[in-house]
Amino acid sequence: MASASASLFKSSIVLDKSEWVKGQTLRQSSVAAVRCNPAAPSSLTIRAGSYANELVKTAKTIASPGRGILAMDESNATCGKSLASIGLENTEVNRPAWRTLLVTVPSLGEYISGAILFEETLYQSTTDGRKIVDVLIEVWCPLLVPMMRWCQGLDGLASRSAAYYQQDAHFAKWRTVLSIPNGPSALAVKEAAWGLARYAAISQDNGLVPIVEPEILLDGEHSIDRTFEVAQKVWAEVFFYLAENNVQFEGILLKPSMVTPGAESKDKVSSATVADYILKLLHRRIPPAVPGIMFLSGGQSEVEATLNLNAMNQSPNPWHVSFSYARALQNTALKTWGGRIENVQAAQEALLFRAKSNSLAQLGKYTGEGESEEAKKELFVKGYSY
Ligand code: 13P
Repeated sequence: MASASASLFKSSIVLDKSEWVKGQTLRQSSVAAVRCNPAAPSSLTIRAGSYANELVKTAKTIASPGRGILAMDESNATCGKSLASIGLENTEVNRPAWRTLLVTVPSLGEYISGAILFEETLYQSTTDGRKIVDVLIEVWCPLLVPMMRWCQGLDGLASRSAAYYQQDAHFAKWRTVLSIPNGPSALAVKEAAWGLARYAAISQDNGLVPIVEPEILLDGEHSIDRTFEVAQKVWAEVFFYLAENNVQFEGILLKPSMVTPGAESKDKVSSATVADYILKLLHRRIPPAVPGIMFLSGGQSEVEATLNLNAMNQSPNPWHVSFSYARALQNTALKTWGGRIENVQAAQEALLFRAKSNSLAQLGKYTGEGESEEAKKELFVKGYSY
């Protein structure tokens, strides 16, 4: 099954993603996109064409100091699992109630520069009848963009992207998943990289900043060295094919998983070690032209994800190194809410605290003070999907 989320900034875009697990593709996407930028003189010129300046501006705005992305693009099924964890049913009343809580946190825009939405959210209203998208754009930041999740692959992506740009979307997200146990095969890596590159090129052709997300799952007992080895290969191929597709690097954002031991490994490593591995890999593989590296949390605890990010920002980096977390931003807020109206304010304060902690981590100033036991709980779930 493939899923893709789109994210963004002031408008939404549509995206797809293909997932590869254990060397197998779960969804076959094919079809080359049609270039639809009449200004581009040939298929070998750089992507983006007349959108080039806008893409750079969008990417820079998302990657602004002390800010990151709130990923809230869980599919309805995955949202249902979150709701079940607090004893709520997965209904069209409870999902908007939770999403309303997330998007109406006052001042969240100080720490969050964009939100990734599931497709349904694009059309949902808050519990008091306002369109969620309007709330995001007005309350947080005029540049916020909704994201959507689509499962249609590359087919029709160009026209869908163009349509969402018309609706004011500014960025999109495509997540491709690779698994380390028993893989990933060279073919899986190549296909994942190619799909991400095609999506990125199509997005830029249509004015959307592509968030490129090659996620290497935490599942497994492997060491941090094995994760490093796989990530090195995956990132190299992704950037090779991005270049082959003439993607403008200044107009993309990379959303990778962190380089850590597998979640089932006996090895425990410090945040400083995780940061050493990641920074080494970033320097080896990612051109400084890429404005932002927006990490996913992947099942780490909220505190662990924040500590790791903080460790990466202890000295200046060529890129804005930040967060685009779902679980590691939402968990404590969800548990605090528990589906009770009287807990909404406390839950929103918990989300604000998390966002502020990660904002400090983006600046390398997070101290770990004031963290709850809930925030220290590991969030890894074997075979987790969106
Ligand atoms: P997590 O931070 O929960 O891994 O989510 C990442 C993601 O890609 C959601 O858009």
